[in-house]
Amino acid sequence: EGATDLTLRINGQTRTVRAEPRVTLLDALRERLDLTGTKKGCDHGQCGACTVLIDGQRVNSCLTLAVMVQGKEITTIEGLAQGDELHPMQAAFLKHDGFQCGYCTPGQIMSGVACVSEGHAKTDDQCREWMSGNLCRCGAYANILAAVREVAS
Ligand code: FES
Repeated sequence: EGATDLTLRINGQTRTVRAEPRVTLLDALRERLDLTGTKKGCDHGQCGACTVLIDGQRVNSCLTLAVMVQGKEITTIEGLAQGDELHPMQAAFLKHDGFQCGYCTPGQIMSGVACVSEGHAKTDDQCREWMSGNLCRCGAYANILAAVREVAS
């Protein structure tokens, strides 16, 4: 099937990307827009490494077709900091050592942002459940939880 020009709103900017209808948002971001902060883990909706926000709601970008999110506001890890100032969730992950190898971290942070903004971070259990779709092979879960809970408090 032929490629078409897609117009995407990403981190407050309008970007045009040429892509076939089957191209995922994850691949469009990483391979065609040079936004490689969003990670590819499983590519099947099971690890959360590819988490981004669409109109403020978290989605797995590996399960989302780029063509379907035209006209929506896409936020990736690159869009969180304001200039030199980290987003509070990024600062909290640093403070609490919410990572080891760091591969899952962008997805964890995006999920954490949605956890707080959607009101799922009121208790440890609630937060743990919301974050359970984001796997961390290093097992940094306790520190990740501490970071998200601090931002929520
Ligand atoms: Fe999308 Fe694993 S890469 S959930």
